[in-house]
Amino acid sequence: MSDTTTSPRGGTAAAPLFEAEGLCVTFPGRGRGPGRATTVDALRGVDLAWAEGEVLGLVGASGSGKSTLGRTLMGLQQPSSGAVRFRGEALTGPRDRAFRRRVQMVFQDPYQSLNPRRTVGAQVLEGLDVHGIGAPGQERTALAVAAMERCGLAPVERYWHRYPHQLSGGQRQRVVIAAAVALGPQALICDEPVSALDVSIRSQVLGLLAELRREEGIGLLFITHDVGLAWALCDRVAVLHHGELVECGGVEEVLGSPRHAYTRELLAAVPAPHG
Ligand SMILES: Nc1ncnc2c1ncn2[C@@H]1O[C@H](COP(=O)(O)OP(=O)(O)OP(=O)(O)O)[C@@H](O)[C@H]1O
Ligand SMILES: [Mg+2]
Repeated sequence: MSDTTTSPRGGTAAAPLFEAEGLCVTFPGRGRGPGRATTVDALRGVDLAWAEGEVLGLVGASGSGKSTLGRTLMGLQQPSSGAVRFRGEALTGPRDRAFRRRVQMVFQDPYQSLNPRRTVGAQVLEGLDVHGIGAPGQERTALAVAAMERCGLAPVERYWHRYPHQLSGGQRQRVVIAAAVALGPQALICDEPVSALDVSIRSQVLGLLAELRREEGIGLLFITHDVGLAWALCDRVAVLHHGELVECGGVEEVLGSPRHAYTRELLAAVPAPHG
């Protein structure tokens, strides 16, 4: 067991769960005139370490490369150059099943992860089936039920037979998180997980994520354009600007006394969190 739960805000007590080294992602872009090919450098040599059990915020304006970085760690996007390591091992190409059990992705729009034609219960069970977790039947169902309860979908009977369109946005996001949690993940890559939710629901879902970290030791990469949310939830924060990592460190250090002009600009739009 690691002792990451005791790592202080801004500390780096544990060995990195993920490391990005010199990570570059270039997309083909559209030229301005006929035959003019351009490219978009979505990530430009990003070096970043994310410790086990840590809540690492990834902030930056729209188009700064946040989602691209999350997708590249997840293996949904191939880097043009540079390396991604998971627990010290270099990852290339599509991720294997063991990785997909350990690291799950939560998107802004839960519909992106949910099948509109399958019930909630069936979808939480599906991952357990795929990964062969628990004996088929009662034991597997009990694991799915426990994950749903853990994620605030209780009483479970009320939700089990519903379809995604019969739930609120917050409940749908809880189903996505429950399906992930059922597999016993080490880390969740959350890409704007509460941006589509209204404010009261937003804090409940954030509370759930914070609890999962505190009680289950699940690390979070929390991607957000909302610096205030990062301040409230994260241990460390990394600031992306036009695909470059301009600042990274403890949340108080980076957001409390930002060194980079761009970080100050992001903060200018946010009301002070303390007081
Ligand atoms: N599949 C793609 N093809 C071409 N360009 C892309 C692709 N995906 C992203 N980009 C470009 O890469 C850059 C970074 O995009 P990305 O989606 O990572 O930004 P983001 O920080 O997540 O923005 P937002 O806050 O709006 O979600 C942008 O200029 C975007 O247009
Ligand atoms: Mg994005």
